[in-house]
Amino acid sequence: MCGIIGYIGERNASPILFEALRRMEYRGYDSAGIATFDDNFIIKKGIGKISDLDKELNFREMQGTAGMGHTRWATHGGVTKENAHPHWSCRGEVVIVHNGIIENYSGLREFLSSRGHKFTSSTDSEVIAHLLEEAMKNHQDLKSAALSVVASLKGSYAFLAMTRSKPDTIIGARKDVPLIVGIGRGENFLSSDVFGFIDRTNQAIFMDNKEIALVTKDQVEFFDFTGKSISKKPATVAWEVSDFSKKEFLHFTLKEIHEQPLAIRQTLSQEVEAVREFASLILKAKNLFITGCGTSFHAALLMKYLLARKAKIRSEVFLSSEIEHQKYLMDGDSVLLAISQSGETADVLSAVSEAKSRGVKVISIANVMGCSLARESFKTLYTRCGPEIGVAATKSFTSQVALLYLIASEACSDLAMRKFLIESPDYVEQALEFEARVQEIAYKYMNANDFYFVGRGDHYPIALEGALKLKELSYVHAEGMAAGEFKHGTLALIEKGTPVVLMNPPDETYVQTLNNAMELKARGASVIGISTRPNACYDDFLQIPELPTGILYPIVESVPLQMLAYFSSIGRKLDPDYPRNLAKSVTVI
Ligand code: F6R
Repeated sequence: MCGIIGYIGERNASPILFEALRRMEYRGYDSAGIATFDDNFIIKKGIGKISDLDKELNFREMQGTAGMGHTRWATHGGVTKENAHPHWSCRGEVVIVHNGIIENYSGLREFLSSRGHKFTSSTDSEVIAHLLEEAMKNHQDLKSAALSVVASLKGSYAFLAMTRSKPDTIIGARKDVPLIVGIGRGENFLSSDVFGFIDRTNQAIFMDNKEIALVTKDQVEFFDFTGKSISKKPATVAWEVSDFSKKEFLHFTLKEIHEQPLAIRQTLSQEVEAVREFASLILKAKNLFITGCGTSFHAALLMKYLLARKAKIRSEVFLSSEIEHQKYLMDGDSVLLAISQSGETADVLSAVSEAKSRGVKVISIANVMGCSLARESFKTLYTRCGPEIGVAATKSFTSQVALLYLIASEACSDLAMRKFLIESPDYVEQALEFEARVQEIAYKYMNANDFYFVGRGDHYPIALEGALKLKELSYVHAEGMAAGEFKHGTLALIEKGTPVVLMNPPDETYVQTLNNAMELKARGASVIGISTRPNACYDDFLQIPELPTGILYPIVESVPLQMLAYFSSIGRKLDPDYPRNLAKSVTVI
């Protein structure tokens, strides 16, 4: 969703801001803009891709050593040039960029209009610029003006503001939306994610909720919304600028699919004590709940199967967005395990906040260091799979799953499982070798309008994930189902040639799943079997390597599903990295 970047230093700001916005494109956006200060504000913005806008607007020719940039994912107000950020106040004193939602914007707009302010957009964000201009009439210094602005705002926000009267300082404010300060030498940054400045510095200060930063080129001051000063130390960010290149791959998605063996190895290199502590929190919970959204929900569901099967632990899994509507019996004896790649998904954060209000202890799994979810959790383990740029989750899913297996193996003290788990990246590597065959099958079914993915037991969450991946990347309707459930209704949709992807590795689900496949085949389905060896029931066979233990098949069988979705997208001439209508981190409810 929206990306924000601010720069203040000695170099020309616009090329730095432009490159930062390009690195944050993966978040999803529909318009973009940059403001710099050079005697006065220069602002350029428009609808569409940054590189296309640049051809028309020449962003990088803008002068000035301070400025800010924004990519907008429309919420309040349509996709128009006027609604793109940056926004300015009517006398041109203030320029702002904002991520989040200002809930009381219409009341503020009325109030500001009554004081003579004229608005040029229909966004909620613009009120911030006018409010600050208004506040500066009564407050001499930026700090007290900024404090008076945040006191008037309701909602969630990270915003940056610059003023004409004090252009050597960028104001940053955070409430419920991430904002990170990058500390350089003779230059500083403010951004919604570390990708904004990772090419310049790996020193980051993660702002907490209800904090304001005043950032000059050599200094950063923090204080809370009551005005109290806060001292904060930078952390070193492990990600590197090379993580942001596609290397030899055509797309980030394919690169990230291929990175999985390395990503899982990194995931599994956790400190033993930290995993032990995490597992003991799960073991001690009287009631265990697990939550996530989308792909992370599928990892959550898999963990439920795993904990029951291996550690005899009962858990309840729910979609984060459903917490309000399901009256779960959560209390102070409960533990909530929240799973999220970004750690910024609004639905997950709201489930966490609801659970905390009921006294629940929240533990979490995330990939992005310093994310909001980690801040809200009692304990967090990071998947350490590196930045995931492709909008669809691939390596972050298998890394989540690997980490959940590691925690489960600790919870049930299963040393053999842990040993096999450590070897799992080798099998993922072997699964990747079947890429050409997956591509053939993806192209063979290019005209199919509906796909079904079926599996039993712990292959059911993977079937759900296979369907989600195909929908996102190829825009083809797909449904994931428990294999035994098909005959209870969905069988009516099977026609001659309807593709059904069967998760059918040789474990205790093998025979029953095959029986279900026969029912489907008898109605004309084309069965694409994912297994270690062919079977006469399969119309097409997608091979995966034979594993020493059945428990790990969910990790390995995810690989052909991801590749199937990727090549289905390529075959349809779509962009797998940036599927339409989707954003990498969904920060609205
Ligand atoms: C699917 C996908 C989404 C995310 C979901 C949750 O490929 O990427 O379904 O899994 O939006 O995101 P996180 O894990 O960041 O909470």
